[in-house]
Amino acid sequence: MIKVLVTGANGQLGHCIKDIQKKYSHISFVFTDYKNLDICDEKAVSHFFQENEPFHYCINCAAYTAVDKAEEEKEKAYNINAFGPKHLALACKMYDTILIHVSTDFVFDGLSSKPYTEKDGTNPISVYGKTKLQGELLITGILKEHFIIRTSWLYSEHGNNFMKTMLRMAETRNEISVVGDQMGTPTYAKDLAKTTLKIIDSGINDYGIYHFSNCGETSWHGFAKAIFQETNIQIKVKEVKTEEYFTLAKRPAFSVLSKKKTIGLLGIKIPHWRNSLKIALRNYKTIIK
Ligand SMILES: NC(=O)c1ccc[n+]([C@@H]2O[C@H](COP(=O)([O-])OP(=O)(O)OC[C@H]3O[C@@H](n4cnc5c(N)ncnc54)[C@H](OP(=O)(O)O)[C@@H]3O)[C@@H](O)[C@H]2O)c1
Repeated sequence: MIKVLVTGANGQLGHCIKDIQKKYSHISFVFTDYKNLDICDEKAVSHFFQENEPFHYCINCAAYTAVDKAEEEKEKAYNINAFGPKHLALACKMYDTILIHVSTDFVFDGLSSKPYTEKDGTNPISVYGKTKLQGELLITGILKEHFIIRTSWLYSEHGNNFMKTMLRMAETRNEISVVGDQMGTPTYAKDLAKTTLKIIDSGINDYGIYHFSNCGETSWHGFAKAIFQETNIQIKVKEVKTEEYFTLAKRPAFSVLSKKKTIGLLGIKIPHWRNSLKIALRNYKTIIK
């Protein structure tokens, strides 16, 4: 039996891992959330590993993901996104655990026009991006046995995300404005959950940084339009430019991730974002019924 600790398990990625856990009967999961394992508390993390060892893997789904709020809550964001992962890396090193950590496309500045590879230089332009990069650097400095999966535009039927925000807004509005000049790839958190567990299942030990999103690319405007087309919701989606839509945090203008390295590692076929969106909307419908 492979024993896996999942931290921050009440977020959308954690929820998606819970949803598919039954398909992995050879894995025994220990799901924790903020209340029973605060990753910012170094002693608590170390104690938890000691009490419950051995964990073969730890999947860190805990994060501070409020991108705009992070500009004002710098310390909290650093604690959760940088020092939390550091505590996990230290405990993993002590107890021979492989750490699978999730990071973000926001470690890039978005000035590229071709998909970012794992070798491309980072240059985050927001506090959130800086905290996530710091988390990556702390992990890689402490622990060789790590997989860092950078993902983008995560959404699902769980938690707070763009898909659910669009559907909620459509209940009260006839028109919404969405940015059309930021390009990226939506990622269904369930596809990311499957890929994460595939790493464990395959037992590979090519540690390092990997990129995962769905395939294809679009803008937030394109993503919004697709959500309404798939749900037959009649609403005007006005395309606006980044400078017309004020946000506290800057966002990369282009953050499409190259998945070649991940495909090479796992031999997976990654679904197109539009196909995964259909599945996510179907799953969302069944849970709100
Ligand atoms: N969401 C995106 O668009 C996106 C894009 C790219 C990358 N990512 C990355 O993907 C990963 C998963 O994101 P997600 O959307 O699933 O995040 P999420 O829904 O915000 O979930 C994060 C979870 O971590 C918990 N948490 C916060 N502080 C904690 C602490 N100190 N100890 C333990 N748990 C703590 C949160 O609890 P509370 O809710 O109670 O605070 C929440 O349940 C993150 O690493 C994120 O940076 C996300």
